[in-house]
Amino acid sequence: MVEKPAIAGGRPVRRNLLPFYRPFIGEQEKKAVEKVLTSGWLISGGVTGKFEDEFRKYIGCKFALAVNSCTSGLHLSLAAGGIKAKDEVLTAPFTFAATANVIVHRGAKPIFADIDKETLNISPESIAKKISSKTKAILPVHIGGLPCRIDEILAIARKKNIKVFEDAAHAVGSIYKNKKIGRWGDATVFSFHAVKNITTAEGGMITTDNQRLAQQLSILRLHGLDKDSWSREKTLHPWKYKVLEAGYKCNLNDVLSAIGVEQLKRLDSFLDIRTKYAKIYDRGLQDIEEIELPTRPAFGKHPWHLYIIKLKIERLRIDRDRFIEALRKENIATSVHFIPLHLHPFYQKNFGYKKGDFPNSEWAYQRVISLPLYPKMTGKDLQDVIIAVRKIIKYYRR
Ligand SMILES: Cc1ncc(COP(=O)(O)O)c(C=O)c1O
Repeated sequence: MVEKPAIAGGRPVRRNLLPFYRPFIGEQEKKAVEKVLTSGWLISGGVTGKFEDEFRKYIGCKFALAVNSCTSGLHLSLAAGGIKAKDEVLTAPFTFAATANVIVHRGAKPIFADIDKETLNISPESIAKKISSKTKAILPVHIGGLPCRIDEILAIARKKNIKVFEDAAHAVGSIYKNKKIGRWGDATVFSFHAVKNITTAEGGMITTDNQRLAQQLSILRLHGLDKDSWSREKTLHPWKYKVLEAGYKCNLNDVLSAIGVEQLKRLDSFLDIRTKYAKIYDRGLQDIEEIELPTRPAFGKHPWHLYIIKLKIERLRIDRDRFIEALRKENIATSVHFIPLHLHPFYQKNFGYKKGDFPNSEWAYQRVISLPLYPKMTGKDLQDVIIAVRKIIKYYRR
């Protein structure tokens, strides 16, 4: 007899809800924050400088600039890269709002290029088709941390003198062809939002090897000033600065950077746990014919920020939304990455995008579910997810 899922009146797999995500914050992070709080210097200063330095070494790039979010880092990159009104910037519709919103903030036009169904990443082939004389930048996203074919994207961009700014919100710790994400494009922007591979609660980092770009980013990050308060503090005239640009306010403060310094020390162990957990999911789900497991990278390392399964909905009696509801009734929280941007009212109203424009993104959207995967989960939590998924599949298979 097939066991009834909770949504159909059976008993749930768990009594308490397994959240989709919980950050790992240890004693070191708490002590580091307390130290900054009692130090007398809370804004961007020595601790932020240390975080940038450690991150730069981890990635192996020349410059790392801490910012208050990946979103502001992406916006600054476009601004420092000279993207302006009427320019076109290419990105995938299968991403979070921030990726395309920052293009709109520059007054530029987001041009969407469809994704590859298997990897869920923007494909170089679709990029090549969408490039025009107005294309000034490409903003590829490494979905779930799985690296894009960034070398091919760069090859297309270099031929046409187009800049590449990577949205690496999910990709702290990703490696493509033996080179870390963070060392490929003109600039790469990471996120330290609470759910990401490492966190500062909110925050981000821009990496680049381009000194001119780094200088411009540094100026734009803090009101367009030539020097920040930390460097002026030690001089005889700390009140003196020059405004070089109408800049923004996107710096990361020392309180949050203190968390970042400690989280960075844990990054490799976090990545090991994520990899181990992804393998446990693989083993527990690989024989289910109604599910497509996430793609392994052809080259390099997957940091497993997200573990995205695709339902073969043709083989099921319920759709993806109902599947998520069924998991929730088993007390398992999941998520969907992402609702394609061309299906949202703003992008339809302002840029004329409509349903049907990006078939691969829509195909993926109907099928994807992100399962919970984070270092705070226990082996039992993982098994509960596997049991719940298997139970729902068995009950609803055609
Ligand atoms: C693909 C992608 N890009 C950008 C962002 C924005 O990151 P942040 O919250 O650090 O601004 C997110 C956040 O979830 C994201 O998923």
